Amino acid sequence: MKFFRSLFQRRDTRSKTDISQRFDLISRLGTGSMSKVWRALDRNQGKVVALKILDMEKTLRYESRFADRVKPTEGEVACQLHHPHIVHTMEHGRTIHNEQFLVMELIDGISLAYLVDAQNEAMQTHRLRLMIELGDAIEYLHKENWIHRDICPRNVLVDKDQSLHLIDFGLVVPNTAAFQEPGNRTGTANYMAPELIKRQRTDQRIDVFSYAVTCYEMYCRQLPWPSVTGASLEMVLKRINQKPQEIQEIVQLDAQIGCAIMKGLDLDPRERWQTVTEMLTVLREAHVRLSPLARKEAVDKKMGRATVKKKRRAEIDDKWQFKTQ
Ligand SMILES: Nc1ncnc2c1ncn2[C@@H]1O[C@H](COP(=O)(O)OP(=O)(O)OP(=O)(O)O)[C@@H](O)[C@H]1O
Ligand SMILES: [Mg+2]
Repeated sequence: MKFFRSLFQRRDTRSKTDISQRFDLISRLGTGSMSKVWRALDRNQGKVVALKILDMEKTLRYESRFADRVKPTEGEVACQLHHPHIVHTMEHGRTIHNEQFLVMELIDGISLAYLVDAQNEAMQTHRLRLMIELGDAIEYLHKENWIHRDICPRNVLVDKDQSLHLIDFGLVVPNTAAFQEPGNRTGTANYMAPELIKRQRTDQRIDVFSYAVTCYEMYCRQLPWPSVTGASLEMVLKRINQKPQEIQEIVQLDAQIGCAIMKGLDLDPRERWQTVTEMLTVLREAHVRLSPLARKEAVDKKMGRATVKKKRRAEIDDKWQFKTQ
Protein backbone atom coordinates (compact mmCIF):
# COMPACT_ATOMS: atom_id res chain seq x y z
CA MET A 1 0.00 0.00 0.00
CA LYS A 2 2.80 2.34 1.05
CA PHE A 3 4.62 1.42 -2.13
CA PHE A 4 1.58 2.31 -4.27
CA ARG A 5 1.10 5.64 -2.51
CA SER A 6 4.71 6.67 -3.03
CA LEU A 7 4.53 5.58 -6.65
CA PHE A 8 1.39 7.59 -7.39
CA GLN A 9 2.52 10.69 -5.59
CA ARG A 10 5.79 10.89 -7.42
CA ARG A 11 6.07 13.81 -9.83
CA ASP A 12 8.05 13.39 -13.01
CA THR A 13 10.79 15.97 -12.66
CA ARG A 14 13.16 14.45 -15.19
CA SER A 15 14.21 16.36 -18.25
CA LYS A 16 12.58 15.67 -21.60
CA THR A 17 14.33 13.48 -24.15
CA ASP A 18 15.02 14.49 -27.71
CA ILE A 19 14.38 11.12 -29.39
CA SER A 20 16.22 11.92 -32.63
CA GLN A 21 19.30 13.06 -30.69
CA ARG A 22 19.47 10.02 -28.49
CA PHE A 23 18.15 7.21 -30.70
CA ASP A 24 18.72 6.07 -34.23
CA LEU A 25 15.36 4.61 -35.31
CA ILE A 26 16.30 1.54 -37.35
CA SER A 27 12.96 -0.08 -38.20
CA ARG A 28 9.43 -0.48 -36.94
CA LEU A 29 8.88 -3.49 -34.67
CA GLY A 30 5.17 -3.02 -34.33
CA THR A 31 2.30 -0.63 -34.35
CA GLY A 32 -0.03 -1.05 -31.42
CA SER A 33 -3.41 0.60 -30.98
CA MET A 34 -1.83 3.10 -28.60
CA SER A 35 1.79 3.33 -29.73
CA LYS A 36 4.61 2.84 -32.19
CA VAL A 37 7.43 0.48 -31.27
CA TRP A 38 10.84 0.94 -32.91
CA ARG A 39 13.99 -1.12 -33.16
CA ALA A 40 16.39 1.65 -32.22
CA LEU A 41 20.04 2.19 -31.46
CA ASP A 42 20.28 3.85 -28.06
CA ARG A 43 23.37 6.04 -28.38
CA ASN A 44 23.54 6.41 -24.56
CA GLN A 45 23.76 2.69 -23.95
CA GLY A 46 25.46 1.85 -27.23
CA LYS A 47 23.01 -0.96 -27.88
CA VAL A 48 19.92 -1.79 -29.87
CA VAL A 49 16.70 -1.62 -27.87
CA ALA A 50 12.94 -1.62 -28.36
CA LEU A 51 11.64 1.93 -28.04
CA LYS A 52 7.89 2.33 -27.45
CA ILE A 53 6.48 5.81 -28.00
CA LEU A 54 2.90 6.24 -26.85
CA ASP A 55 0.36 8.14 -28.91
CA MET A 56 -0.26 11.28 -26.89
CA GLU A 57 -3.93 11.84 -27.70
CA LYS A 58 -4.98 8.22 -27.19
CA THR A 59 -3.01 7.95 -23.97
CA LEU A 60 -4.51 11.17 -22.62
CA ARG A 61 -8.01 9.99 -23.54
CA TYR A 62 -7.41 6.67 -21.79
CA GLU A 63 -5.85 8.22 -18.71
CA SER A 64 -8.70 10.75 -18.37
CA ARG A 65 -10.88 7.79 -17.28
CA PHE A 66 -8.89 7.79 -14.07
CA ALA A 67 -8.87 11.54 -13.49
CA ASP A 68 -10.35 11.00 -10.02
CA ARG A 69 -7.66 8.48 -9.05
CA VAL A 70 -3.90 8.54 -9.22
CA LYS A 71 -2.86 5.87 -11.68
CA PRO A 72 0.74 4.95 -12.43
CA THR A 73 1.75 5.33 -16.07
CA GLU A 74 2.71 2.37 -18.26
CA GLY A 75 6.39 3.25 -17.85
CA GLU A 76 6.14 3.45 -14.06
CA VAL A 77 4.49 0.03 -13.92
CA ALA A 78 6.79 -1.63 -16.46
CA CYS A 79 10.01 -0.44 -14.76
CA GLN A 80 8.88 -2.10 -11.49
CA LEU A 81 8.54 -5.55 -13.06
CA HIS A 82 11.41 -8.00 -12.83
CA HIS A 83 10.61 -11.51 -13.99
CA PRO A 84 12.25 -13.89 -16.49
CA HIS A 85 9.03 -14.02 -18.54
CA ILE A 86 8.22 -10.33 -18.52
CA VAL A 87 9.97 -8.01 -20.95
CA HIS A 88 12.61 -5.96 -19.16
CA THR A 89 11.97 -2.21 -19.26
CA MET A 90 15.12 -0.23 -18.52
CA GLU A 91 13.78 3.28 -18.54
CA HIS A 92 10.76 5.48 -19.17
CA GLY A 93 10.33 9.18 -19.71
CA ARG A 94 8.85 11.90 -21.89
CA THR A 95 9.94 13.16 -25.27
CA ILE A 96 10.39 16.87 -25.98
CA HIS A 97 6.88 16.67 -27.49
CA ASN A 98 5.59 15.33 -24.17
CA GLU A 99 4.87 11.80 -25.42
CA GLN A 100 5.56 9.01 -22.96
CA PHE A 101 8.24 6.55 -24.03
CA LEU A 102 9.68 3.28 -22.73
CA VAL A 103 13.10 1.77 -23.41
CA MET A 104 12.92 -2.03 -23.37
CA GLU A 105 15.11 -5.00 -24.10
CA LEU A 106 14.61 -6.00 -27.72
CA ILE A 107 12.94 -9.38 -27.97
CA ASP A 108 14.13 -11.09 -31.12
CA GLY A 109 11.25 -13.39 -31.82
CA ILE A 110 7.65 -13.63 -32.92
CA SER A 111 4.25 -12.95 -31.49
CA LEU A 112 2.43 -15.83 -29.82
CA ALA A 113 -0.46 -14.88 -32.14
CA TYR A 114 1.61 -16.19 -35.10
CA LEU A 115 2.36 -19.44 -33.30
CA VAL A 116 -1.34 -19.87 -32.51
CA ASP A 117 -2.10 -19.45 -36.18
CA ALA A 118 0.78 -21.59 -37.45
CA GLN A 119 0.34 -24.52 -35.03
CA ASN A 120 3.77 -25.57 -36.26
CA GLU A 121 6.37 -27.94 -34.85
CA ALA A 122 7.65 -25.31 -32.39
CA MET A 123 4.14 -24.73 -31.08
CA GLN A 124 3.39 -28.42 -30.72
CA THR A 125 6.70 -29.09 -29.04
CA HIS A 126 6.72 -26.22 -26.58
CA ARG A 127 3.03 -25.45 -26.07
CA LEU A 128 2.55 -26.58 -22.48
CA ARG A 129 5.82 -25.08 -21.28
CA LEU A 130 4.97 -21.77 -22.97
CA MET A 131 1.55 -21.81 -21.33
CA ILE A 132 3.19 -22.31 -17.95
CA GLU A 133 5.70 -19.51 -18.59
CA LEU A 134 2.84 -17.14 -19.41
CA GLY A 135 1.05 -18.28 -16.24
CA ASP A 136 4.26 -17.69 -14.23
CA ALA A 137 4.44 -14.12 -15.56
CA ILE A 138 0.78 -13.44 -14.66
CA GLU A 139 1.24 -15.03 -11.24
CA TYR A 140 4.16 -12.69 -10.55
CA LEU A 141 2.20 -9.67 -11.75
CA HIS A 142 -0.72 -10.60 -9.49
CA LYS A 143 1.54 -11.11 -6.48
CA GLU A 144 2.86 -7.61 -7.13
CA ASN A 145 -0.80 -6.52 -6.89
CA TRP A 146 -1.54 -5.49 -10.46
CA ILE A 147 -4.24 -6.50 -12.95
CA HIS A 148 -2.90 -6.75 -16.51
CA ARG A 149 -6.28 -6.38 -18.27
CA ASP A 150 -4.99 -7.27 -21.75
CA ILE A 151 -3.69 -10.82 -21.68
CA CYS A 152 -3.91 -12.16 -25.24
CA PRO A 153 -1.50 -13.81 -27.73
CA ARG A 154 -0.77 -10.43 -29.36
CA ASN A 155 0.78 -9.24 -26.12
CA VAL A 156 3.15 -12.18 -25.81
CA LEU A 157 6.44 -12.65 -27.65
CA VAL A 158 8.39 -15.91 -28.02
CA ASP A 159 12.12 -15.52 -28.64
CA LYS A 160 14.51 -17.65 -30.70
CA ASP A 161 15.29 -19.83 -27.64
CA GLN A 162 11.55 -20.55 -27.34
CA SER A 163 11.31 -18.53 -24.15
CA LEU A 164 8.19 -16.46 -23.56
CA HIS A 165 7.97 -12.73 -22.70
CA LEU A 166 4.80 -10.93 -21.65
CA ILE A 167 4.70 -7.36 -23.03
CA ASP A 168 2.36 -4.36 -23.03
CA PHE A 169 1.49 -2.90 -19.65
CA GLY A 170 -0.61 -0.12 -21.16
CA LEU A 171 -3.85 -1.15 -19.47
CA VAL A 172 -2.43 -2.33 -16.15
CA VAL A 173 -4.14 -1.04 -13.02
CA PRO A 174 -3.48 -1.64 -9.35
CA ASN A 175 -5.55 -4.44 -7.84
CA THR A 176 -7.13 -2.08 -5.33
CA ALA A 177 -10.78 -1.28 -4.56
CA ALA A 178 -10.68 2.04 -6.43
CA PHE A 179 -9.59 0.34 -9.65
CA GLN A 180 -11.88 -2.67 -9.26
CA GLU A 181 -14.96 -0.48 -9.47
CA PRO A 182 -17.24 -1.10 -12.47
CA GLY A 183 -16.86 1.01 -15.59
CA ASN A 184 -13.34 0.61 -16.94
CA ARG A 185 -14.21 -1.55 -19.96
CA THR A 186 -10.85 -1.80 -21.70
CA GLY A 187 -9.01 -4.76 -23.17
CA THR A 188 -9.29 -6.93 -26.26
CA ALA A 189 -12.90 -7.93 -26.97
CA ASN A 190 -12.40 -11.65 -27.62
CA TYR A 191 -10.46 -12.08 -24.37
CA MET A 192 -12.66 -10.01 -22.07
CA ALA A 193 -14.34 -11.71 -19.12
CA PRO A 194 -18.16 -11.40 -19.00
CA GLU A 195 -18.07 -9.33 -15.80
CA LEU A 196 -15.82 -6.83 -17.55
CA ILE A 197 -18.12 -6.56 -20.57
CA LYS A 198 -21.13 -6.23 -18.28
CA ARG A 199 -19.37 -3.36 -16.51
CA GLN A 200 -19.46 -5.14 -13.18
CA ARG A 201 -16.79 -5.07 -10.51
CA THR A 202 -13.57 -6.66 -11.79
CA ASP A 203 -10.50 -8.12 -10.14
CA GLN A 204 -7.55 -10.35 -11.05
CA ARG A 205 -9.97 -13.08 -12.15
CA ILE A 206 -10.46 -11.22 -15.45
CA ASP A 207 -6.80 -12.05 -16.22
CA VAL A 208 -7.46 -15.71 -15.35
CA PHE A 209 -10.26 -15.68 -17.94
CA SER A 210 -8.10 -14.06 -20.65
CA TYR A 211 -5.28 -16.47 -19.84
CA ALA A 212 -7.66 -19.43 -20.27
CA VAL A 213 -8.90 -18.04 -23.63
CA THR A 214 -5.24 -17.73 -24.71
CA CYS A 215 -4.47 -21.32 -23.62
CA TYR A 216 -7.58 -22.56 -25.44
CA GLU A 217 -6.42 -20.86 -28.63
CA MET A 218 -2.92 -22.27 -28.23
CA TYR A 219 -4.45 -25.74 -28.49
CA CYS A 220 -7.35 -25.19 -30.85
CA ARG A 221 -6.29 -22.28 -33.11
CA GLN A 222 -9.77 -20.95 -32.53
CA LEU A 223 -11.53 -19.05 -29.78
CA PRO A 224 -13.93 -20.73 -27.32
CA TRP A 225 -16.70 -18.57 -28.79
CA PRO A 226 -17.07 -17.43 -32.41
CA SER A 227 -14.74 -14.51 -33.06
CA VAL A 228 -16.22 -11.04 -32.88
CA THR A 229 -14.01 -8.89 -35.10
CA GLY A 230 -15.79 -5.63 -35.70
CA ALA A 231 -18.79 -6.56 -33.54
CA SER A 232 -20.03 -4.43 -30.67
CA LEU A 233 -19.27 -5.45 -27.11
CA GLU A 234 -22.99 -6.07 -26.62
CA MET A 235 -22.80 -8.70 -29.37
CA VAL A 236 -19.76 -10.22 -27.69
CA LEU A 237 -21.70 -10.41 -24.47
CA LYS A 238 -24.62 -12.14 -26.17
CA ARG A 239 -22.28 -14.77 -27.57
CA ILE A 240 -20.42 -15.45 -24.37
CA ASN A 241 -23.63 -15.81 -22.42
CA GLN A 242 -23.58 -19.29 -23.90
CA LYS A 243 -21.18 -21.91 -22.62
CA PRO A 244 -17.88 -22.15 -24.54
CA GLN A 245 -17.36 -25.08 -26.86
CA GLU A 246 -15.81 -27.97 -24.93
CA ILE A 247 -12.09 -28.06 -25.81
CA GLN A 248 -12.05 -31.86 -26.03
CA GLU A 249 -14.60 -31.66 -28.88
CA ILE A 250 -12.09 -29.71 -30.97
CA VAL A 251 -8.71 -31.28 -30.17
CA GLN A 252 -7.46 -34.38 -28.48
CA LEU A 253 -5.56 -33.30 -25.40
CA ASP A 254 -4.69 -34.43 -21.92
CA ALA A 255 -7.92 -34.46 -19.85
CA GLN A 256 -6.34 -32.66 -16.86
CA ILE A 257 -5.12 -29.81 -19.09
CA GLY A 258 -8.46 -29.61 -20.89
CA CYS A 259 -10.40 -29.38 -17.61
CA ALA A 260 -8.00 -26.72 -16.25
CA ILE A 261 -8.57 -24.54 -19.30
CA MET A 262 -12.37 -24.99 -19.25
CA LYS A 263 -12.56 -24.01 -15.56
CA GLY A 264 -10.63 -20.83 -16.37
CA LEU A 265 -13.35 -19.98 -18.91
CA ASP A 266 -16.26 -20.19 -16.51
CA LEU A 267 -18.64 -17.29 -17.16
CA ASP A 268 -19.20 -16.85 -13.45
CA PRO A 269 -16.03 -15.54 -11.77
CA ARG A 270 -17.03 -17.37 -8.57
CA GLU A 271 -16.90 -20.72 -10.42
CA ARG A 272 -13.66 -19.91 -12.24
CA TRP A 273 -10.19 -20.59 -10.81
CA GLN A 274 -9.94 -17.97 -8.09
CA THR A 275 -6.27 -17.33 -8.74
CA VAL A 276 -3.95 -18.02 -11.65
CA THR A 277 -1.80 -20.02 -9.20
CA GLU A 278 -4.63 -22.57 -8.78
CA MET A 279 -4.82 -23.09 -12.53
CA LEU A 280 -1.04 -23.17 -12.87
CA THR A 281 -0.70 -25.83 -10.19
CA VAL A 282 -2.74 -28.19 -12.37
CA LEU A 283 -0.79 -27.30 -15.51
CA ARG A 284 2.54 -27.76 -13.73
CA GLU A 285 1.40 -31.17 -12.46
CA ALA A 286 0.43 -32.20 -15.98
CA HIS A 287 3.80 -30.97 -17.29
CA VAL A 288 5.66 -33.09 -14.74
CA ARG A 289 3.50 -36.08 -15.62
CA LEU A 290 3.91 -35.68 -19.40
CA SER A 291 7.45 -34.42 -19.89
CA PRO A 292 10.49 -36.52 -18.93
CA LEU A 293 12.53 -33.35 -18.52
CA ALA A 294 9.97 -31.59 -16.32
CA ARG A 295 9.83 -34.75 -14.19
CA LYS A 296 13.62 -34.69 -13.78
CA GLU A 297 13.52 -31.00 -12.88
CA ALA A 298 10.84 -31.59 -10.26
CA VAL A 299 12.97 -34.32 -8.64
CA ASP A 300 16.07 -32.10 -8.80
CA LYS A 301 14.18 -29.26 -7.15
CA LYS A 302 13.01 -31.54 -4.36
CA MET A 303 16.58 -32.72 -3.82
CA GLY A 304 17.86 -29.14 -3.91
CA ARG A 305 19.84 -29.69 -7.10
CA ALA A 306 20.28 -26.92 -9.66
CA THR A 307 17.76 -27.04 -12.50
CA VAL A 308 18.59 -27.09 -16.18
CA LYS A 309 19.08 -23.66 -17.78
CA LYS A 310 16.21 -22.35 -19.95
CA LYS A 311 18.10 -22.54 -23.23
CA ARG A 312 19.28 -26.04 -22.57
CA ARG A 313 15.73 -26.98 -21.64
CA ALA A 314 14.43 -25.89 -25.03
CA GLU A 315 17.11 -28.00 -26.71
CA ILE A 316 16.21 -31.02 -24.62
CA ASP A 317 12.49 -30.50 -25.26
CA ASP A 318 13.36 -30.53 -28.96
CA LYS A 319 15.40 -33.67 -28.62
CA TRP A 320 12.64 -35.51 -26.83
CA GLN A 321 10.14 -34.12 -29.31
CA PHE A 322 7.87 -33.68 -26.35
CA LYS A 323 4.36 -33.12 -27.55
CA THR A 324 1.45 -32.24 -25.38
CA GLN A 325 -1.37 -33.74 -27.35
N1 LIG B 1 10.36 -5.33 -26.35
C1 LIG B 1 9.91 -5.61 -27.58
N2 LIG B 1 10.70 -6.29 -28.44
C2 LIG B 1 10.27 -6.57 -29.70
N3 LIG B 1 9.06 -6.20 -30.19
C3 LIG B 1 8.24 -5.51 -29.38
C4 LIG B 1 8.62 -5.18 -28.04
N4 LIG B 1 7.59 -4.50 -27.46
C5 LIG B 1 6.64 -4.42 -28.40
N5 LIG B 1 7.00 -5.01 -29.56
C6 LIG B 1 6.20 -5.10 -30.82
O1 LIG B 1 5.35 -3.96 -30.92
C7 LIG B 1 3.97 -4.36 -30.94
C8 LIG B 1 3.13 -3.34 -30.18
O2 LIG B 1 3.55 -3.30 -28.83
P1 LIG B 1 2.53 -3.15 -27.62
O3 LIG B 1 1.60 -4.31 -27.61
O4 LIG B 1 3.32 -2.93 -26.38
O5 LIG B 1 1.78 -1.81 -28.06
P2 LIG B 1 0.32 -1.26 -27.76
O6 LIG B 1 0.14 0.01 -28.52
O7 LIG B 1 0.14 -1.17 -26.29
O8 LIG B 1 -0.53 -2.41 -28.38
P3 LIG B 1 -2.06 -2.78 -28.36
O9 LIG B 1 -2.44 -2.79 -29.81
O10 LIG B 1 -2.04 -4.17 -27.78
O11 LIG B 1 -2.80 -1.80 -27.53
C9 LIG B 1 3.96 -5.75 -30.34
O12 LIG B 1 2.89 -6.52 -30.81
C10 LIG B 1 5.30 -6.31 -30.79
O13 LIG B 1 5.20 -6.82 -32.09
MG1 LIG C 1 -0.25 -4.80 -27.40
